[in-house]
Amino acid sequence: NVLILDFGSQYTQLIARRVRELNIYCEIHPYHKLPDNVSEFKAVILSGSPFSVRAEDAPHPELSKIRGKLPLLAICYGAQYLAHFHGGQVAPSATREYGRANLSILAKDDVFFKGVKDGSQVWMSHSDTIKDLPENGVRLASTTDVANAAYKIEGEQTYAIQFHPEVYHSTDGKQFLDNFLIKIAGVTPDWTPDAFVETTVAELKEKIGNEKVVLGLSGGVDSTVAAILLHKAIGSNLHCIFVNNGLLRKDEFSSVLKQYEGMGLNVKGVDASARFLDALAGKSDPEEKRKTIGNSFIEVFDDESHQIEDAKWLGQGTIYPDVIESVSVNGPSVTIKSHHNVGGLPDFMKLKVVEPLRMLFKDEVRRVGASMGIDPLLLGRHPFPGPGLAIRILGDITPEKVRILQEVDAIFINGLRAHGLYDKVWQAGAILLPVNTVGVMGDERTYENCVALRAVESTDGMTADWVNLPYEFLQKTSNEIINRVKGVNRVVYDISSKPPATIEWE
Ligand code: XMP
Repeated sequence: NVLILDFGSQYTQLIARRVRELNIYCEIHPYHKLPDNVSEFKAVILSGSPFSVRAEDAPHPELSKIRGKLPLLAICYGAQYLAHFHGGQVAPSATREYGRANLSILAKDDVFFKGVKDGSQVWMSHSDTIKDLPENGVRLASTTDVANAAYKIEGEQTYAIQFHPEVYHSTDGKQFLDNFLIKIAGVTPDWTPDAFVETTVAELKEKIGNEKVVLGLSGGVDSTVAAILLHKAIGSNLHCIFVNNGLLRKDEFSSVLKQYEGMGLNVKGVDASARFLDALAGKSDPEEKRKTIGNSFIEVFDDESHQIEDAKWLGQGTIYPDVIESVSVNGPSVTIKSHHNVGGLPDFMKLKVVEPLRMLFKDEVRRVGASMGIDPLLLGRHPFPGPGLAIRILGDITPEKVRILQEVDAIFINGLRAHGLYDKVWQAGAILLPVNTVGVMGDERTYENCVALRAVESTDGMTADWVNLPYEFLQKTSNEIINRVKGVNRVVYDISSKPPATIEWE
């Protein structure tokens, strides 16, 4: 196990993902909250930070249980921290050091550089520089602008680097992490999807015993993988509920339900479309629509979970990025839990919570799913928002609008699949606009709906760019939509990036 101490760098999660790619398990903890079992970790990595070590409010980690006791890799801020507070000197750089640089390796025989060629490209992002090394520091590599690009501490397994091995542009970044973690710290790379499944299933068995778990399936990757893990552990004591809110994609409720049954899951499909659509009638404010759907879901789920006698647990598909406690750059971060008022909560929320995926990144959830034999088509599905088509029908929602959008969306998505484009897109969908436009069909003037198509590339949905879909594909899709979907006479393609636009239109 590797401990990553976070100083608020935008790259901290990337460090963790790179480490996991080496099949090594790691955890991110804020620099000021060391876990109690620090000594049990095999190695520690200090992240970068937006702070300067010279600033008064700069983060000060408590390293007495780590320095000299565990192998330590200090990246960027970490490297500067070790220098500044242990007999070295850090000063503002004469030139800002951002972007590409090439390493000139002085310690060619050090294991840290095994498999790394002189001149290797690394990525820099810092405005302070290490002028003097700390006590017992030995310079290992330089770049044109940075004399102390890498150093180690004599007599310790402590390495420090000014560059970022975790970013893609550091060509040998993964090699450095491999050298440090496996060759220097002696960590065993045994964190594989198969191993995760085996240990997690055993832990779940132990934790849950003969008690019952309820879990809401959404058709998405996370809830499905969580369900299959629980199913392996407790079999039919897992009770899944799959709610049709009437805002899913065309035919999705029946096809996904069938798929779940095929996987052997004990799943109840609840068609609550009418309930959701009734509650939404006349509502056009996006946040009000979201709230209405959220509340209706809680009601339906509460009703359904009451039918499962004696359920003790609520299973959830929460993943690691949702639970990592982040270090706020603007003062101490406060996490406000909304689960205070236990008395006023629906009954299912009073259940004990089990989250088998809470330590996994999204790409790992997919790998774990694949190792359990889940259909690649399901694992590769685009993200789909909880409120579904409700936030893609701008303005108020009627069953007729849902029908139109389902038809349009199906033509678009099936077309992407048929043209081999689906997997090149991170998320795609259609939006029904609240305007009618004039058209002409045959000799008739029409005055009908306009729909927009959106397809984006992204890695996490935080930033995104529109996809340059082939004109020929757009042309074909537009024709098909206008010819086949009654009520639509115009199709437009959204060419906005996020930011400043969002992925959804509401
Ligand atoms: P935006 O529109 O904020 O979307 O750029 C980013 C990602 O989040 C999804 N999204 C939602 N997912 N409930 C959800 O479960 C919501 O209310 C919601 N709003 C947006 C969106 O589909 C995209 O993947």
